[in-house]
Parts: sequence; structure tokens; C-alpha cells
Amino acid sequence: MEKRVAVVTGGVGGLGRAICQALHKQERTVVAVDLPQSDQALDDFRQSLGQAKAEFRSLDVSDLDDCKRVFADIEASFGPVEILVNAAGITRDASLRKMRPEDWRAVMAVDLDALFHTCQQVIDGMMSRGFGRIINISSVNGQTGQFGQTNYAAAKAGVHGFTMALAREGAAKGVTVNSISPGYIDTAMTRAIRPDIREQIIAGIPVGRIGRPEDIARTVAFLSADDADFITGSNIPVNGGHFISF
Ligand code: CAA
Repeated sequence: MEKRVAVVTGGVGGLGRAICQALHKQERTVVAVDLPQSDQALDDFRQSLGQAKAEFRSLDVSDLDDCKRVFADIEASFGPVEILVNAAGITRDASLRKMRPEDWRAVMAVDLDALFHTCQQVIDGMMSRGFGRIINISSVNGQTGQFGQTNYAAAKAGVHGFTMALAREGAAKGVTVNSISPGYIDTAMTRAIRPDIREQIIAGIPVGRIGRPEDIARTVAFLSADDADFITGSNIPVNGGHFISF
């Protein structure tokens, strides 16, 4: 695999970290971007990647100007970004009757606006060089909806629309754009669900277990491979059979 520069948003978090590990294994130059981290959290992150030189940049993906600044800095330091994984995501679960405007706005900003902010920094370069891999992390709940997630389900369904449209723009120029829809994966996000509700959801997963971050990371590795050039505009569900469709 060529030593291409890969940026992973939400790169220090549960899914992002496993994705960074998988891309490292493919010899990519991985730059994790995430909200500012404590020294301890960064140490943990670097250790989990098994090397001292895991690259990290602070970035708030909901802020367009921050994205412009940080992506310019990454390209100046490491070279053109050829792989972009949008894994940053938040939940602010509440039924619609209780949802505050700030819960709606925060989720739309981080889970959907961010795709516009980050992809716009890299798409021109990818198209002019004739190679790019963009992978957007959506969710099973963007396909099915979930009680208490009108904000999250709307944003994650929006991720699919964005992905399909950008796939058409990049297709003739070697840029593939795909989404992955994780089911329930063992991360801080799902550990925050009320325990009884969480247990009930896990009990309903046909393969009989909650997902592991590595289940998502290997799908990212597959879609970002140099020769994965005929898969674009797709969504790959990775959910243990939680939602089976075609
Ligand atoms: N399904 C059906 N009915 C539900 C329900 C559910 N999941 N949750 C609550 N209700 C019912 C209650 O039984 C109650 O009914 P009664 O009024 O008849 O007693 C009523 O709705 C309560 O409504 P509230 O507005 O008061 O809801 P709440 O505050 O009790 O619960 C909630 C809201 C905390 C969001 C809860 O519904 C919940 O935890 N839902 C699951 C959220 C979830 O799965 N989030 C996933 C986060 S991880 C993730 O998103 C990653 C990924 O991509 C998969």
C-alpha cells in the first residue's frame, strides 16, 4: 500500500482510534484530528497506536475556519491528504418533545456540517491528483431511526445523501466516497445509554454481541485501499444483523 496521508476526524475516540490503528498497519501516514486533548489522553492514544510518533492536531470539525487552518497545516507538514475518514460524532439524545434547540444544533454541526467543512478542504486536491478516498461514518440509526434521536438520525441519514452526491462529483477523477453505517459498537457513546435500554438493544443483535471498534476499522481499511476504486457512493452496514436490508 502506498504511504499516503490519511486524516481521521474524531481520531482519538473509540472508533477513530481503531481506524487510526488499521490505517497505520497499512503504512499510511495517519493524522488524528480531534478536540483538544489532555496530555494523559494523548499519551494513551500514542501508546495504543504502538508508536511514539502518532500525529495529532486539535480541531473542532464544526468550525469551518478551524478546518481550513488545520488542513492547510497538515498538508504543509505531511503532504496532500489522500484519505479522509469522517469519524467525529456526538449524540444529544432526547425525545423530540424534550429536545432543546442546542441539542439539535450541536448534533447537526458535528455530525453533518463537519462533512462540508472537511471534505471541502481536500476535494480539489484529490480530484486534481486523480486519487482520493473519503469515508464517512454514518449509523444504523440513520437508516432506521431511533427513539430519542431525531437529531442524530437526521444528521446520519444526511451523511448518506452527502456521500452519494459527492461520489458522483469525484467518480471520474479517481475519488471514491462511501459511508459505513455502524450498528451498536462498544464505545463511550453506547456506554452512555441507560443500562436497561442498552442491554435490551444488545439482546436484539442477531450475532449475539455488541460490535467492536475493530469491526468498523477493517471496513475503513477495505474501502480506503489503493485498489478499492470501483466502490463509490455505497453504504456498508456493519451491524451484526441489527438491521438487514439490501
Ligand atoms: N422505545 C419506545 N418507547 C420509549 C423508548 C424507546 N426506546 N424510550 C422511552 N420510551 C417511552 C417511555 O416508556 C415513556 O412512555 P410512557 O410515557 O408511556 O411511560 C415515554 O416514551 C417517555 O418519553 P420521554 O420523552 O420521557 O423519554 P425518556 O426521557 O424516558 O427517554 C431516551 C428518552 C433517554 C432518549 C430513551 O428513549 C433512550 O435512551 N433511547 C435510546 C437512545 C439510543 O439508542 N441512543 C443510541 C446512542 S449510541 C449511537 O447512537 C451510536 C450509533 O450510531 C448506533
